[in-house]
Amino acid sequence: MSSSRLLSLAALLAVLVLPGCQRPTESNAPPAASPTTTTAEKPRPAGADGIYAVTLARQPSAAEMAVVGRAMFSDPGLSASGQMSCASCHSPQHAYGPPDDLAVQHGGPDGKQPGVRAVPSLRYLQTVTAFSEHHFDNDGDDSVDAGPTGGHTWDGRSDSTHAQAAVPLLSTYEMANASPAEVVARLRRAPYADQFRATFGQDIFDDDTKAFRWASMALEVFQETPEEFYPFDSKFDAVLRKQAKFTAQEARGQALFNDEKKGNCASCHISAFTSDGGFPLFSDFGLIAIGVPRNPAIPANADPAYFDLGLCGPLRTDLQDRPEFCGLFRTPSLRNVSTRHVFMHNGVFHSLDEVLRFYVQRDVRPERFYPRKPDGSVARYDDLPAKYHGNLNADAPFDREPGQRPVWSEADIRDVVAFLKTLDDGWRSH
Ligand code: HEC
Ligand code: HEC
Repeated sequence: MSSSRLLSLAALLAVLVLPGCQRPTESNAPPAASPTTTTAEKPRPAGADGIYAVTLARQPSAAEMAVVGRAMFSDPGLSASGQMSCASCHSPQHAYGPPDDLAVQHGGPDGKQPGVRAVPSLRYLQTVTAFSEHHFDNDGDDSVDAGPTGGHTWDGRSDSTHAQAAVPLLSTYEMANASPAEVVARLRRAPYADQFRATFGQDIFDDDTKAFRWASMALEVFQETPEEFYPFDSKFDAVLRKQAKFTAQEARGQALFNDEKKGNCASCHISAFTSDGGFPLFSDFGLIAIGVPRNPAIPANADPAYFDLGLCGPLRTDLQDRPEFCGLFRTPSLRNVSTRHVFMHNGVFHSLDEVLRFYVQRDVRPERFYPRKPDGSVARYDDLPAKYHGNLNADAPFDREPGQRPVWSEADIRDVVAFLKTLDDGWRSH
């Protein structure tokens, strides 16, 4: 756990505990406060650390911010409908993933506007780095570029948890506030408004921009609470700590999961200790195209010309001219995956068996997953236009031809499901 996530939190805390620190005051100096500023000199852009560049009247501790963040996270009063909080979609009882089996949740001012993607779990994201187009494997050979990696959301477009918090608060199909000022108006009326002031200073609500920024930071700090967001208390973790043993079935499942020639799952969903000795997160957070079927249950998909192409848009807009990125989505962690009722970025699958069958049969029995074209042939990878099919991953288990034997039998699939269930948090030995 030595990533830039922790560094950013450390940087934040450094700013908080060192009121005299140059960084915030430097970039925050309003032009009026600087007599030498002329009209020719542009004000300094806030830059990457703009979020910290607001001097607070009072320096809150991370613990105080987490308390405010927790209250905000489950406050429906922060939404335009008055009905929806972060917790409505990211349910604490479901590892901060979706509470139900809907492919997409509904939000907006009337609570009826459908989203376009399945809700991801918010657990075990603490080491997700900012998005990068190139990931160099940490195995000593720096010449291997494993492609794009990192960033928040299914397409990696948000660089941090605090940046991401602003999105649902303002999105028209989520919490649907018209502006940051509207969010702050709701915060002023919130039952924990006094606590917000006590934490960030009595004047915090005088400046909407400042209040909104620190509200996002409070949400982020809450989402970095270890006991809620990365408890590492699954059976799998207990086995690593030598406090438990896998059953024979779980052990078989683990071997199948790791076998490079068969499931090859661990090549993306890393199951080994991290290079600095951290417990495995079951994702390398790389962005990869695996060609999941189109989901007709998503209303946006009623338009045959609409495709969610992940990295190359349309939600993400900075890489729209990069055809080699079309169809790529961020590899999710598999921790707590068995608590979900919808899987993949478009929620097309509803059980783990179904997901595993997709992996091992996608290329050998494509007719099970994709619809038929009018001429009777199978429309393989029907949620990705044909010109991008070259982007699809072709390593095991995706290295087979129609008619070949799948790499796993149904019994193998049951074993792997048993193994995946050991990744659920909250395991107790009795
Ligand atoms: C209407 C449902 C909904 C609500 C409400 C909602 N989210 Fe989300 N959240 C999503 C979806 C869907 C995604 C995936 C978005 C994407 O990939 O484009 C997501 C993604 C995220 C991510 C990125 C996770 C990752 O895997 O990188 C974070 C962090 C997050 N939400 C935090 C929040 C916070 C904080 C709130 C409240 C301020 C909130 N969400 C409210 C549906 C919701
Ligand atoms: C080449 C990288 C790669 C390999 C190999 C791989 N996965 Fe994945 N996995 C992904 C990506 C990327 C997604 C998300 C795809 C999407 O939503 O379009 C995903 C999604 C999943 C999900 C859904 C999780 C969720 O939260 O919705 C499960 C379960 C899963 N993988 C299990 C496996 C298993 C089991 C194997 C081995 C048979 C495997 N994966 C092999 C990259 C990979």
